[in-house]
Order: sequence, then C-alpha cells, then structure tokens
Amino acid sequence: MKKRITSNLVCAVLGMLTLTDACLAATNAVDTAMVAASFISYAEHPTLFDSREIDAKVATLLKQMTLKEKLGQLTQFSNGDATGPDNVKIDQSELATRGRLGSMLNLSGAKACNELQRQAVEKSRLKIPILFGLDVIHGHHTVYPIPLGLSAAWDTDLAERCARMAAVEATADGIRWTFSPMVDIARDARWGRIAEGSGEDPYLGSLMAAAWVRGYQGEDLSDSASMLACAKHYVAYGGAEGGREYNTVDISERTLREVYLPPFKAAVDAGAGTIMSAFNTLQGVPASANRHTLTEILRTEWGFRGFVVSDWDSIGELVQHGVALDGSEAALKALTAGVDMDMQSNLYDTKLPELVQSGRLEMEVIDQSVARVLRVKFALGLFERPYTDERSSASRMLTPEHVELARQAAEESFVLLKNDPVNGKRILPLAVDKTVALIGPLADSQAGMFGAWVMKGDSKDAVTVRQSLARRLKDRLIYARGVDTRDESEAGFGAALVAANQADIVLMALGEAPDMSGEAESRAKLDLPGKQLKLLQAVVATGKPVVLILFNGRPLALPWEAEHVPAILEAWFPGVQAGPALARTLFGEVNPAGRLTATFPRSVGQMPLYYNSFNTGRPAPGKNRYVTGYIDERNTPLFPFGWGLSYTKFDYSPTRITTRKISAAELNQGGSISVEATVTNSGPRAGTEVVQLYICQRGTMRSLWSEPVSAVTSRTWL
Ligand code: BGC
Repeated sequence: MKKRITSNLVCAVLGMLTLTDACLAATNAVDTAMVAASFISYAEHPTLFDSREIDAKVATLLKQMTLKEKLGQLTQFSNGDATGPDNVKIDQSELATRGRLGSMLNLSGAKACNELQRQAVEKSRLKIPILFGLDVIHGHHTVYPIPLGLSAAWDTDLAERCARMAAVEATADGIRWTFSPMVDIARDARWGRIAEGSGEDPYLGSLMAAAWVRGYQGEDLSDSASMLACAKHYVAYGGAEGGREYNTVDISERTLREVYLPPFKAAVDAGAGTIMSAFNTLQGVPASANRHTLTEILRTEWGFRGFVVSDWDSIGELVQHGVALDGSEAALKALTAGVDMDMQSNLYDTKLPELVQSGRLEMEVIDQSVARVLRVKFALGLFERPYTDERSSASRMLTPEHVELARQAAEESFVLLKNDPVNGKRILPLAVDKTVALIGPLADSQAGMFGAWVMKGDSKDAVTVRQSLARRLKDRLIYARGVDTRDESEAGFGAALVAANQADIVLMALGEAPDMSGEAESRAKLDLPGKQLKLLQAVVATGKPVVLILFNGRPLALPWEAEHVPAILEAWFPGVQAGPALARTLFGEVNPAGRLTATFPRSVGQMPLYYNSFNTGRPAPGKNRYVTGYIDERNTPLFPFGWGLSYTKFDYSPTRITTRKISAAELNQGGSISVEATVTNSGPRAGTEVVQLYICQRGTMRSLWSEPVSAVTSRTWL
C-alpha cells in the first residue's frame, strides 16, 4: 500500500517502511523495498463552509436577530465558572432561553447537553442551537498517547484514526467541537505545552495537523459522529521566550511563515472549521488582537471561512498586555482584528453594544462574525439535529475496537532511545525466563499513564505496567515503588534495592508526574524530578542490567542516564493501554519503531535546540576555537530529532534522483522530483522503519515563504 504525504522543503520524510514477517519468510530474513519521494503541494480539502445554500440561510437568520442575540452567538461561557470583568456567575439556562448563549465549554454528557440545548432550541425566539465544546485532546473516555507521543509514530493514518475515535466518543457525550489539534511548533522543551503538539518540525507538524482535522471532522461534518476541529493556538505560542509559559514571542516574519504558520495552513486546507487565537504577543502585538495574522494571513491569504475563537479570556488579557486601556477597547481590538467568538471574558456581550451606539463599531463587523459562527453551526447540521442520542451514548465509549486502537497507538509511539549490549547481549527484547524487578513511581500508577488534558478519561480504565507484567511473569515479578516522582524522601530506596538484588533484570519506570507538562507547566530544569536519578544510580550500582522506561511530556536532558543505563525506552504518557503496549514491546512481540519528533538536549542551557536551524558562518568543529558553541557543553543533542532504534537492523543504499533535474521555478509550479533508496531489513526480525530524507536549499538567500516550495513523501507499508 502506498500513500502520499506532503512536506515543505526544509525537511522531508521519505516514507515509513514495514518489513513484515511475511516478507521475512519469503526472503529468508532479508528483504528489500523501494521508497520514493517527489515534490508536490498540499491537496486542498473542498472547503466545508462554502455553500450558497448555507450562506442564504445565514443571511435570512441574521436579518431577524437583535444586537443582543447576535452578541450571544459570539459568546462562549464555561460550565459553572464565574466569568467576565465582574466575575459573575451566569445563569446558563436563562441565557439560553433568551438566545444569548452561542456556545458552552466544559459541559458534557448527552443528557446535560440536551437539557441546555432544549432551552435554546425550544424556548428561545430564533431557536439557534448551542455549540458545545470541550478540550478533547488525546481521546475522550478511551485515552490514547499524548500528541507528542502520537507524533513519534510518524503515522498520519494512525493519528486520523485516533482522532476519529475521539470524535465518535465525544459526540456521544454531546460535544460537537474540540479545542484540538494543538499545532504549535515547539522547539524548546522547557515549554510544558510541547506535550500537546507534534514537536519541532513544521513539515511533520503540518501532516499531523491535517490528519487530526480529517479524523475529527470526518468525511461529512454534519454526521452526528463528526466533531468540529479547532487548530490552536494561533500563532507562534510555542516560540515563548525562555520556554516560559504565556511569554513574549518575537520572531521574524520569515520564521513565522516557515516554522509556525505551516501547520495552521495545513489545518485550514484540511477543512478545519475553527482556529483559536493565542495568549502570546507576536512582535509586540498580542495574538488575540493581531490583524496581520488573524485577517491578512488567515482570511485574505488563505481564504479561511470558519470562525476564530479567543483562548480563555485572551480578550480580557489585552488590558494586562497593555494594548487596551479597558475591557471596551479590548473587545473592539479583538473583534476588529478578527476574533469572532469570545471565550469566557464576557466582553463582547457587555462592551460591544455601547461601541455600536457611539458609532465606534460598525454593525457589519459584528454581522460578519455572527455569520461565520452560524455558517459553522449549519455545516455541523446542528439546526436539523441539535440533540444527542442519550440511549446509545454509553455504548460508544471504550469499545473493544477503541481500546485496541489505543494499544496500537501506544505501541507505535514508543521510541527505543538506547539498547546497548550487556555482556555481549542486548537486554531488549527481554528473555522470557528471567526474574524481573519493576521499580519506580510510574510502574503502577494508573493516573500517571494519562498526562495532561484528560477531561473525561477515568484513570481506573488505565492498565499499568505492573498489572500487565504480573499477568505474564506471576511470581517472577518483584515490584517496589522506590520513590515518588517529585518527593525528596528516600525511604523506599531500601526495598527497591532489595528487589533489584533479587532479580536478573531491573526495569525502572521513571519520569515526570502527569501534571508536569501541559498548560502552565514550564520547567527550568529538564532532569528526572525528585530523587529518581539518585535511586536509578543506586540501582545501576548493583550491577544488574537495567532498562529505563521513561514517562514524560517533553524531551528531558538525561546525560547520566544516557551514558550509564544500557537500555532506554521512551514511553511518553501512553494512555489507557500503557501496560499491555509496554509488555508487548518489552518482550519483543512488538518491535519499537517510533522516532523522536523533538530534540532531546544534553543540558537545559542548549535550549532552544532543534534540527533545522540555520547555519552559522563559523560552524563547529572549525580550524580554531572561534566557532559556534559553548565552552562547557557540546552543540549536539543527546538524542536528535528523528532518532529511534529497532530490535532489527535496516541498511540503506545511497539515494538516487530518478527523475530529470528541474529548476526551482518548475518545482514551485507543482513539478516533482523522485528520490529512491533501497532499504534492507538485514536483522533478525520484522520491523518498521521511518525512512527520512533531509534536504535544504543551497546557494540562495530566498525565503521559502516568498516562493513556497513543497516536498512530498510517500509512506510505504510492505
Ligand atoms: C488553553 C486552551 C484551551 C482552553 C479551554 C486555555 O487555558 O490555553 O488550550 O482550549 O483553555 O479549556
């Protein structure tokens, strides 16, 4: 099977290759495959919001609306939360009855949503349905790996299927809008939200963005199992200075265009119905009042026809940013810049009327935003089918197929960072007859398997590594918690060392607590928190072979671990099927094939560190000491972008360009180049290889965005 995927010129992935058992059987443990890359541009999704019929319905409705009803459509409240400048608690039901509640977030459950919907649809004057939104970030009830982990599978089909599964479950709970995918490029592991996206590469990030959107929105957005996607946070939020949450972003237009915008463009091209405006400033202008990005680029250049929602109170925060003197100015600046819906600051509803009355705001500006929101509601089929089927709701959650997909996703997300031989033999995959000590705070923590942003997932549904290994190993598994993730206590060291000494092999399940990544979880240190490293050092000192299994929401700087621990498996936060997926991988029933999508540094001081940086004029190593670098650290990462090992071995032939050479101009007009390589599985078992091709444009100073060039890959399963 062959599938086409696309890229820009800075990086290209050539393909993903699975050399299966069948191939191996046929060719006596060696097989070859050919992959090809060519250069094309993104295929555009026929726009979902481009219907004359819908436009006509919107126009008719708009004519009947009062100003207050219009502003209701531009207002989103969070269930049960107090809101607005005066921090008032709203009466949701009463507002719905008066047609003043366009959207709600954080209310879910078919019954609860239906109840409130009934107020809007049956009691309000114009019967406009409410749009219910929720942060369905990596699964709903069936929680799958955090997005950073999922991206390490380099498998867009998998991401699409996971997103679809999330849509099927969330829509059964009344949710027709998710605030996902997060498509922020992140080049700095200190930033906690790196966990929520697809890493540092604009190309891979764009492919993933499109895949998530396709999965959520499906073939038909009006299908009751389809959910509106929201690409966030627009834009460049991941470029926060110092990796410090909500911090200033000051980058060039070129970097904006080449690095941070492409995944948003890909999401828009894939048909994403909504975009969320970010918290950060960009070149001194807050993203939620930035006309350049919200209107000139998004609407004029890209032709986006969905609507923009602010991030949580990011309109109100324009006052804190200092660009608006009060709430009224904040509302005016956000709306006229291009933010259509106000999440939670309640400034549109309270401040825009006086601006219209005083003539500072034209009604057409409001009408335009209301039309965008209504258009999306029509496209979702909300007017025809505003309610959720309450009877079938429970049966759509955690079905065997969903759980199976979550396991597959976890398995594909694992990255084997290191697997060195100990006494001539690699520890992984584990031999079946050994006694195993399993030690660490994440070995048996159900809650620890989920990571950030789990709204409806119940940690009781998660299977831990201890549970899965106990099923296989029975009394050959010895468990000790050892330490807590963040605690300073060493009280458990003794029991952990006893366990290690009794075993043939030690598995250390260490990492970050699940709430150490995600929003407002920036770190200035990238080590194993608490006493975990100290415990690991003590266990390694026993002389037993050690495998380190890492659970974390960001790249970590683990220089001691990388030098002294023979095997390291990166597991991220794997979701409900953590245990089974890890057991199958550790015992070799699954051959790890994940590849890093974010660089692991040696030291925090290297941050930001990413593979596609510009050259300097003095690259290291050089003829003398006047080269780019540090006096106390190497330039190279601990584990680079794209890194990942396998239990088998792949050999590469040199690459060949198999088509005639074409000029950059031809390439820009949709021309293509094919590159081929022969990849051979020369190792002892079946495996999957992500074939990566890196290219750069030499001999030109031109920016890619002024003359966009895109590259394509083919992804191949054999
Ligand atoms: C986050 C968004 C999220 C929103 C709604 C904000 O604090 O930045 O990512 O979608 O809250 O929960």
